Amino acid sequence: MVVYHLSTECYPVAKVGGLADVVGALPKYQNKIKGIDAKVVMPWYNKSFFYDHEFDIVFDGFIHQGPNMLQVQVMKEKTNVLGFELYMVKIPGLLDRDNPYGYQDENFQFLAFQHGVLHWLSAMQIRPDILHCHDYHTGLVPFMIENCAEFEFLKGVKTIGTIHNGEYQGMMSWNMANYMPSFDSWKWGFLDWNGLINPLASMIKCAHAFTTVSEGYLEELYIGFRGLESLVRQEFSKAYGIINGIDTEVWNPETDPMLDFNYSIKNAVEQKKKNKEKLCKEYGLKPELPLFAFIGRFATEKGADLLPDMVWRSIKQSYGALNIMILGSGNTYIENKLKEYDYTYSNFALDLGYKEHLSHKIYASADFLLMPSRVEPCGLNQMYSMRYGTIPVVRYTGGLKDTVVDISTGGAGLNFTYPGVDDMIHAMNRGINLYNKKDTMEKLIEANMQFDFTWEKSAEKYIALYNN
Ligand code: ADP
Ligand code: GLC
Repeated sequence: MVVYHLSTECYPVAKVGGLADVVGALPKYQNKIKGIDAKVVMPWYNKSFFYDHEFDIVFDGFIHQGPNMLQVQVMKEKTNVLGFELYMVKIPGLLDRDNPYGYQDENFQFLAFQHGVLHWLSAMQIRPDILHCHDYHTGLVPFMIENCAEFEFLKGVKTIGTIHNGEYQGMMSWNMANYMPSFDSWKWGFLDWNGLINPLASMIKCAHAFTTVSEGYLEELYIGFRGLESLVRQEFSKAYGIINGIDTEVWNPETDPMLDFNYSIKNAVEQKKKNKEKLCKEYGLKPELPLFAFIGRFATEKGADLLPDMVWRSIKQSYGALNIMILGSGNTYIENKLKEYDYTYSNFALDLGYKEHLSHKIYASADFLLMPSRVEPCGLNQMYSMRYGTIPVVRYTGGLKDTVVDISTGGAGLNFTYPGVDDMIHAMNRGINLYNKKDTMEKLIEANMQFDFTWEKSAEKYIALYNN
């Protein structure tokens, strides 16, 4: 069975968040299953991965986007170094940029990607068994292959859509229809939601099945989905919640080259301490105190707006009995507030930006990882932290609810219910109490490291769905 994953991110080629981690790992694990040939197709970005590896040009052609003619080149990485065939689609002017997101013309950008991919497959008469579309950026593919004459060759190919984040739906005005490959206009209803073209809604309507990255998140979407609740309820019979795994080859504290001191479950306590001491020294923190960390995008869905108040209040209320470290970037107000506190409080360290190496060091060094998310479709940070023996402190929502069980009910994490500073600090205080009980802490480190979040089970679930 030949499966093409279509995505705007793929680790280690281009990563903004968890989507990249999933697309960089899931196909690799699927390929370990007999009879599966999973590949990844992504836009070409101006990233070092391209220059560090060799590629063949496998397609060179043109598409029309409204009045514009765009060149489409498809490049294939020569050695399958990632554990799957990797194709990068280059469209000069739209898909040859430094980063996946953040451009004014992103509607044109993602339309060109979807159009370019389907044009290439049709022109080369490549007919996959499954097209697996990730998030709204590729959400129009299921519609396009059924309703655009240009892709007649692909008609009937089975499509799966995975919703990694329903907060982003890619809505655009109907004017953009002029820039799509021409389609049967009677079918406009498959594109429309409330007077706009909504790629995520279209994916839910047109894909043969769609998935969310946890069961908990799927349940929440029936109640709150930024206007798509009724649609997801109507299409419930083709909805599946499949929890993400983690790539335990990349995220392995025993072998992770990004750590200063590697460790297994046997020497985790001592080695984590050494990692923590080194990190604390670098950032002027106090290694004898518990270290709470946050890693992520400064967005309200991540509860990042709660961080500034959490920092000053938890330091004041505990009389400085904890360290806090934050790595991330995003909303400028949050960044500026945190910068101010970084200057004011010696128990607080901030590193602004996206730093893969530092994130691994923090997972290994911290005692607790904070995730006050308002919305969390799956969340990978909590799983990475657990694998590295760091106790997750998470709000009870979406994938966090499915993966982190509170110590009071037999688990090894800390949950809180309300996405507010009071509840978060209450959970952190529970953490500080635990930190002072050495034996309990050691048991929790061990218990967290033993959780099984490997991809194998979920990769099998996707294959079962494909077979259906
Ligand atoms: P999301 O995709 O919504 O941002 P996830 O929890 O699924 O959330 O995945 C986030 C991924 O991005 C994790 O691999 C995390 O370690 C990484 N990450 C987030 N922010 C940063 C950062 N500032 N520096 C390094 N890695 C980061
Ligand atoms: C999205 C979600 C996150 C999930 C990731 C990978 O970015 O916000 O919760 O873990 O996708 O599926």
